[in-house]
Amino acid sequence: MVKVAILGYGTVGSGVYEIIRKNAASIKRKAGDEIDIKYILDIRDFENHEEKQLFTKNFDDILNDEEVKVVIEVMGGLNPAYDFSKAALLAGKHVVTSNKELVATHGTELLQIAQQMNRNYLFEASVGGGIPIIRPLNQCLAANEIEEIYGILNGTTNYILTKMVKEGASFDDALAEAQRLGYAERNPEADVEGHDACRKIAILASLASGKFVDYKNIPTEGITGITKSDVACAAKAGCVIKLVGYAKIEDDGKVFARVCPMAIPQTHQLADVNGVFNAILVHGDSIDDVMFYGRGAGKLPTASAVVADVIDSVKHIDSHIRLMWREVKENFMMDPEEVCSRYLIRSANADLAERFIKAEIVGEVGAETAFVTGPLKEKDMKEKLGSEGSFIRMLS
Ligand code: HSE
Repeated sequence: MVKVAILGYGTVGSGVYEIIRKNAASIKRKAGDEIDIKYILDIRDFENHEEKQLFTKNFDDILNDEEVKVVIEVMGGLNPAYDFSKAALLAGKHVVTSNKELVATHGTELLQIAQQMNRNYLFEASVGGGIPIIRPLNQCLAANEIEEIYGILNGTTNYILTKMVKEGASFDDALAEAQRLGYAERNPEADVEGHDACRKIAILASLASGKFVDYKNIPTEGITGITKSDVACAAKAGCVIKLVGYAKIEDDGKVFARVCPMAIPQTHQLADVNGVFNAILVHGDSIDDVMFYGRGAGKLPTASAVVADVIDSVKHIDSHIRLMWREVKENFMMDPEEVCSRYLIRSANADLAERFIKAEIVGEVGAETAFVTGPLKEKDMKEKLGSEGSFIRMLS
């Protein structure tokens, strides 16, 4: 029997508890050993819990208990999650997490410690909730050079934008509805400003490139500025607006990454990913395109990915699963101003489109003319546009 400890009994932690108890028999069959929860760490009291004896407020109970082989960190945030994870790895325990902020910030160090200790630091649930993406990148798609990886990585913003696109809601009304339904936090900044998607694309870009992509170097725009006019403008161009986390790895090893709202043609696979669902598209040099779709958040979907990592840890109880990126000193990030894209532009100047080659007028939105440009560098687009209109990048 393998004893595990859960750090944090919030939404994900309680989901992990539930799945380990509910699916104990099939988990045992798959892991090759019984998995039992010995501790749950939380600062709150759970006096009415059916297994209240499991709860502790003292991390040392877990750290010093040699019987605990796997620590499940589902606390979120950097502190004390970082200290606890590091200490657990150094004590020879496996660590499994859903904490994208921690992985995106201290992942390099924690992965190194895991390797040195011949243990595992696994984080399938940190990106895309229940959607398998970390393990596919590290295993099933390992034969490929990953050239592009992008997608809808945040359920809250996708819910809001879906309401705006399909029902004509304003941003404020859609956000209020998302909060009412419990999708958006009372302080929704991390989601609506794109920070959550930024951490996730940083993790994916690091895995895909093999180099630590610091989220601080990823230009990030959220959706708070998206208006009904933007949605209408996109519709004229046959597009929907989605918040996209995007990363491209060039042949010379340069990496481009960005998080921003994009106009996506209705014919694109991502255009129909609606509500709180996430989808991630990977383009590998041998496999071509693969798409992963499912629930990117929520108690049981996220816990499903966490428990899968626990099972993998138990299957590799005395060995390290190679999962690694390295820290590179020289700057390998592409200048976003040099990157080419097509743009959906709207302007009160009806002649503005003439400044852009291959521009195609798609219609009028209020007093503005909307048009789609041919591909050009961002800095050239901004120079031509000046302050005469607004733009949204196209995914195509
Ligand atoms: N707030 C995140 C989302 C939860 O809306 O997708 C999962 O990271």
